[in-house]
Amino acid sequence: MRLNVPLTGVDELNAIAEVLQSGFLTQGPKTAEFERLIATRIGAMYAFGTSSATTGLHLTLHAIGVLPGDEVIVPDFSFPATANAVIQQGAIPVFVDIDLATFNLNPTLVEQAITPRTRAIMPVHAFGLTADMTLINEIAARHGIPVVEDAACALGATHRGREAGTLGLAGVFSFHPRKIITTAEGGLISTSDAELAAKIAVLRSHGAVRGSHYMSFVDAGFNYRLSDIHAAIGIAQMVKLDHILDRRRSLASVYNDLLSDVDGVSPPSVPEGDLHSYQSYVVLLDDDVDRDSVIDRMREADIETTLGTYSMHLQPYFRERFAIDDRELPSATRAQRSALTLPLYPQLENEQLESVVSALRQAVVSSRRKP
Ligand SMILES: Cc1ncc(COP(=O)(O)O)c(C=O)c1O
Repeated sequence: MRLNVPLTGVDELNAIAEVLQSGFLTQGPKTAEFERLIATRIGAMYAFGTSSATTGLHLTLHAIGVLPGDEVIVPDFSFPATANAVIQQGAIPVFVDIDLATFNLNPTLVEQAITPRTRAIMPVHAFGLTADMTLINEIAARHGIPVVEDAACALGATHRGREAGTLGLAGVFSFHPRKIITTAEGGLISTSDAELAAKIAVLRSHGAVRGSHYMSFVDAGFNYRLSDIHAAIGIAQMVKLDHILDRRRSLASVYNDLLSDVDGVSPPSVPEGDLHSYQSYVVLLDDDVDRDSVIDRMREADIETTLGTYSMHLQPYFRERFAIDDRELPSATRAQRSALTLPLYPQLENEQLESVVSALRQAVVSSRRKP
């Protein structure tokens, strides 16, 4: 059983063929339509397709004026793209610990990490659960610091009734095949700030402004566009979004029930008032369970599982550059060691989840470290 299988088929194939036949392949009408669909869906004024979430994050940091030497607060526990976007801007990622119950930024520690050089806070909505944006926004407003949501995993997630991607100054989604919907590669920046939107529009495509006959180049921009081929896949995927979210949520609730009496495994917890998108279903194993041995045992049962995500300070590049002691980031360190992602995608049936949980129960028993 695979960890994730994107829900793609003949609709996506036809959408690609239509673009190829049209002769307009790069950013064009399909990208504009895809952007409109997402903006309307989440309630944002503007949306900009990008070639990936990584380029979307970098473009956003650049557009809000993060400069070399500035500090940007990010969670230590995330996919490296979050911190890499900060590095690409010449800025310094300041790694803050997470709350182990939600895998999300701990807001109290965010406040402690703010310095006069802090130019942005970039919470990640871990695995599709929104960070505590109420508290984070409160802290950010008190210090006059913009908040950029890394909403890569969180299309469809809500915090107190508001959609991910509308909870900060800007939000960035990913459409990598492991995300809620896919465009193969692709991302999107959402914002309701007109000034920021105008900058992003120019910077996304070479710093160009279109005139009546030709373009003029008003900034040193990037080529971070989304192609119409990718956008067309995204349009076909948007038709399925509600079905995908419903299935993910209902399967997650089956997992929650099945796991409730499995020793050594804590299912993900969702704060009151939030709606998880379950891009990944990630459990925390007891400290004395060897997670990598569990992954091996599950593989023997023909079930693909993997770690949760990465603790940045433990990765060679960041370790060499910042040399942060594990004791400063205890929860992220623990999450890197003990989090486990289980298979979850709309095509799975309840019986398959039963077999995952039954294999996991045995794998955990045989992977306990000796005292
Ligand atoms: C939290 C987070 N941010 C950013 C990214 C980067 O997304 P992309 O592959 O679209 O660049 C990912 C991808 O896994 C992610 O999980």
